This record gives sequence, C-alpha cells and structure tokens, in this order.
Amino acid sequence: MRIDILTLFAEMFDSPLAFSIIKRAQNSGIVEIVLSNIRDFATDSYKKVDDKPYGGGPGQVMMPQPLLDCLENVKAQDKRKPRVLLLSPQGRKFDQKLAAELAAEERLILISGRYEGFDERIRLASGAEEVSIGDYVLSGGELPAMVIIDAVVRLLPGALGDEDSAANDSFSNGLLEYPQYTRPEDYKGMKVPDILLSGNHEKINEWRKQQALEKTKKNRPDLLK
Ligand code: ADE
Repeated sequence: MRIDILTLFAEMFDSPLAFSIIKRAQNSGIVEIVLSNIRDFATDSYKKVDDKPYGGGPGQVMMPQPLLDCLENVKAQDKRKPRVLLLSPQGRKFDQKLAAELAAEERLILISGRYEGFDERIRLASGAEEVSIGDYVLSGGELPAMVIIDAVVRLLPGALGDEDSAANDSFSNGLLEYPQYTRPEDYKGMKVPDILLSGNHEKINEWRKQQALEKTKKNRPDLLK
C-alpha cells in the first residue's frame, strides 16, 4: 500500500512513523508513506496557503489552489487509484470498520489541514471523503492522519509479527477486549484468575467471551445495540 500525506507540518510525522509496527511495515515494503508539503505549491512570494473567510468570522481558511495543485502532483506520482480522505471534524466518524475498509485499498491520500478549515471547493474539486476521528476539535489534521495510519497499517497482512494478532483486538468482533494477565501470578495479593492457569482452553475462551461482554456492557453499552 502507498499512503500519501499532504500537510503543512511534515516534521510532525517523523517520530510516529519511525517506531515499532509502522517502522517495520515500511522497512519490509508492506507500506510506503510519502509526505508532501502543501506550502511548496503556493505561488506568491510569501508562500501563502490560507486567507480570511468570506462573510467574516474568526481565523483563516485553507485556499484551494496550493492544496489542489499539491494533490494533483501527488496523484500523478503513482498509477494506483487512490482513496482520498480530508481530515476534518465534519467528517464520517473513523472506526475499526472504516480502518478495515481502508486497509483493503492499494493507495490512500490523507489531507491534513490547519487553521479554521478548508475552502469548500477543495472538497468539491477533489472528491475527497471527509473523515473525523471523534467529536472534538484538534488544531489540525496531522494527529488524525497519524491515528488513521496506525490503525490501518497494523491491519495490513504481515504488519504484525506472528506473536501479535489483530483478530482479538477490541471492536474486531463488535466487543471490547477481555482483560489480560501476565506474570507474576500474584502481584501484591492481586491474583491471576484461576481459570487462566487451568490449561482448559474451552473454559478460558468461555470466560474471555463473558468478560468481554461484561466490559462492553459497562463501558460501551452503545456497541451492543
Ligand atoms: N481536525 C481537527 N479536528 C479533527 C477531528 N476531530 N478529526 C479529524 N480532523 C480534525
């Protein structure tokens, strides 16, 4: 898979992309992640990418020309048909189902904006889908892009080592994950449940299913509807 990120702050991605699963996935060729700076496509001498909103109001709005020229340039760098996402609090809510959908694509382009938002013609001309990572407002689309990349890349075949698995992750079966324990068996009097030490895998699976259900009922009853 190829993932392009359009941003004004490419440096923000350095550290999140340089560790653990995402780093490994890039090194082994499972994913190629390419950063492009929207400001490189500004045409005036100030490298202006934003301006005041028509109709008044606070803040600055991302101008259509630099961003759309950047997008055209990026699209032309690869033949694969991309799915283009515009990060914004106005978008479809990102969840595990959308992550799985995106993981099946050959190419993604993520557009991260700053300022108060995008000129509406960016959405209209690009055909991008607006995606939000939750009902709260961040200072830009960079963190949302990182969240989406992390959730998608770990679903790509081969991205997780043999010992890891996405199959039991929370949400993958519509429930939150069951509680996990590791050594020691007794931590300051808090004991690992006997059932997990029993070696009876049928009983362990039953217990885990029950625990997942209880946790979901308590913390996320909306998932059971
Ligand atoms: N940009 C600012 N806030 C956002 C959010 N919640 N999701 C996606 N992009 C954003």
